[in-house]
Amino acid sequence: MTKKLLLGVVLCFMAAARVQADEGMWLPLLLQQLNEPQMKKLGMKISADDIYSINKGSLKDAVISFGGGCTGGVVSAQGLLLTNHHCGHGRIQALSSPEKNYLADGFWAQSFNDELPVPGLFVTFIVRIEDVSKAALEGVVSNMSERERQSIIDKNLEAIRNNAARESWQNVQIRPFYEGNQYYLFVTETFNDVRFVGAPPESIGNFGDDTDNWVWPRHTGDFSVFRIYADKNNRPAPYSADNVPYRPRYFLPVSLSGVKEGDFAMIYGFPGRTNLYLPAVAVDMQVNVLNPIRVGIRDQILAIMGEAMRANPEIKLQYTAKQAGIANAWKKWIGETQGLKRTNGLEEIRRREAEFKRRVAANPAWNTAYGNLLPELERAYAELSPLASARDYFNETTRGIEIFRVASFVESALNLHDTQGPDAAKARSGQLIGFLKNFYQNYREEIDRRLFERLMAIYFDKVPAEAQPEYATKLYQSHNRSATALTGDIYSSTMLADPGKALHMLETDWDKALETLRQDPVLKLFRAINQLGVEKLQRPVSAQQEQIAALQRQYMAALMAVFPERRLPPDANATLRVSYGQVQGYKPRDAVRYEPITYLDGVMEKYKPGDYEFDVPEKLRQLYANKDFGRYVDATGRVPVAFISTAHTTGGNSGSPTLDARGNLIGLLFDGAWEGVISDYYFSEEINRSIIVDVRYILFVMDKFGGAGHLVNEMKVVTTPPSKGKKHKA
Ligand code: ARG
Ligand code: GLU
Repeated sequence: MTKKLLLGVVLCFMAAARVQADEGMWLPLLLQQLNEPQMKKLGMKISADDIYSINKGSLKDAVISFGGGCTGGVVSAQGLLLTNHHCGHGRIQALSSPEKNYLADGFWAQSFNDELPVPGLFVTFIVRIEDVSKAALEGVVSNMSERERQSIIDKNLEAIRNNAARESWQNVQIRPFYEGNQYYLFVTETFNDVRFVGAPPESIGNFGDDTDNWVWPRHTGDFSVFRIYADKNNRPAPYSADNVPYRPRYFLPVSLSGVKEGDFAMIYGFPGRTNLYLPAVAVDMQVNVLNPIRVGIRDQILAIMGEAMRANPEIKLQYTAKQAGIANAWKKWIGETQGLKRTNGLEEIRRREAEFKRRVAANPAWNTAYGNLLPELERAYAELSPLASARDYFNETTRGIEIFRVASFVESALNLHDTQGPDAAKARSGQLIGFLKNFYQNYREEIDRRLFERLMAIYFDKVPAEAQPEYATKLYQSHNRSATALTGDIYSSTMLADPGKALHMLETDWDKALETLRQDPVLKLFRAINQLGVEKLQRPVSAQQEQIAALQRQYMAALMAVFPERRLPPDANATLRVSYGQVQGYKPRDAVRYEPITYLDGVMEKYKPGDYEFDVPEKLRQLYANKDFGRYVDATGRVPVAFISTAHTTGGNSGSPTLDARGNLIGLLFDGAWEGVISDYYFSEEINRSIIVDVRYILFVMDKFGGAGHLVNEMKVVTTPPSKGKKHKA
């Protein structure tokens, strides 16, 4: 009996430990305190100090924030870095021309001299992280107004920032954690001379495109290569031909040994945003109300763009980037809604809330302090929901209409003109003209007309009457509430839909053009709609969210007090984090199990000659046919392409170095598997998987396909003794 009971207790404990094994994106400087034992249990062979140290070169010195929205890893003593192809995509496109199309054909610099400067690209290293919570919250007491609280904190942060020890070329940022219950300081070093070194053609780097996006099994070689340059003292400097390759404090050894199912895998990067502590009512709103609104509108946009793109290869080229951006979030939102249902996430969150209420009710002090939080959050979100829905209808429809983007730029010039005078507006002329030139290169009036017609009909139908300006409703009335009639009229009278016309006017007589455009029907319509949308929808939503933020902060503090046994990870906030887990397959649906590793064989299985998503370059087909794989194979003699891990990641993690038990580079994270993308709100170990391109595929493509073996030689390539992972049949 006692034995049985004991076993029960042990099993319960194990189950609890298991559930928490992989959730969260953790702060590197707290790993020793919070995560090291768990990481070692999962197979890690190095120490927390090897991952983050301020006294010696550690893994963190090889992890960079890439261009603001992605992550990258440094892999040589000369500042060579790897990130995703989709992270470098925009830059590679900007460096390309019809004669030198690096997206279509790939690019490999054969020497330092061939490496291409990338204007505007920057990378940021984290020099040091410090907990400054105490100083940041000094003087804050619980019965203060939010305003008072914020003003004290702002002053505190200013002082901390000014007093922080740093070198003249370093920067200091302070960010709130745990919904504002803690603050951490980051000393950073940003390099602005970053050069393009190489990338495979899109048919490898974006193989599978939208069809495979967010999907496992995956066969994308999603990587590109850059190099950081510094001045002669190894310090950040603006681009100069005299700059030299940066010598990092640490760089990642690259492993040829790979991983198998059950092996430890850790992801080091800059995840953007998660919301792990929302009450059920908020997750329900976000995932079951707002996501479907956005998805429904984007369905329409994507159908219109897709049809035109399929019919005309030139349009395909012009609209690829726009369409990919719209489709990426669209597909993720659909996955979130399905994932929440499938994981029973809402029920689980409600169960946690019930437990919270039970514990709080049993403790008088907690009851006084926290007893009202959940009811208040529920009330606040109930108020937010209709507002946020209306705001999303407004945002998604108006942002989907391309000509409104033009109107928005012209409007900002007009505002400048009216508030700061003609000279101030004129000073912006170059920027506006440049924007328009770029914009019109990828603009098709016939597509935009269809978008306008479809989206304005939704706007008039769904945006609440009080947020629709009289100017717009009257205009709609006068066209008998026919979006078709309105569209015909608007596009035949606007000057903004004709690229040549608008640009010519602005270039020949800027002042006169501004005055003419002031009267343009699209501009007038946009101004009216946008002004009221901001006033009646966006501002009230922000105001309500501010109130909610204060409640969420208190709720977070309450959760930490009430569940001391739960290790609660801080939500992602675009700061440096470590996620960890194991290489594991999963069951996407009944009776189906996915293996955790894909191979080059799978690329060939998906190969569709001439297809825009699944074509395979001839050279790669030859290498495959000749089994010319070099040393980039696993024990079965095949070239691994990608694998999945249970580690918790989100947007911003793309390009993150993925490391084995010894801290060697085994791949780059580039996606999350669709069934588990609900992990921004609710993490389920069963179904959450991050998708990683295997570094052996990267090296294989570089060396054998790209003829850039010199880059592989520049790296420190290692092999490690086989680990004791869970065996699985190949
Ligand atoms: N899903 C990836 C992440 O969220 C982006 C993949 C880019 N590729 C594409 N075909 N859209 O950013
Ligand atoms: N593709 C995403 C990025 O650009 C990463 C997706 C994820 O890990 O969930 O950051």
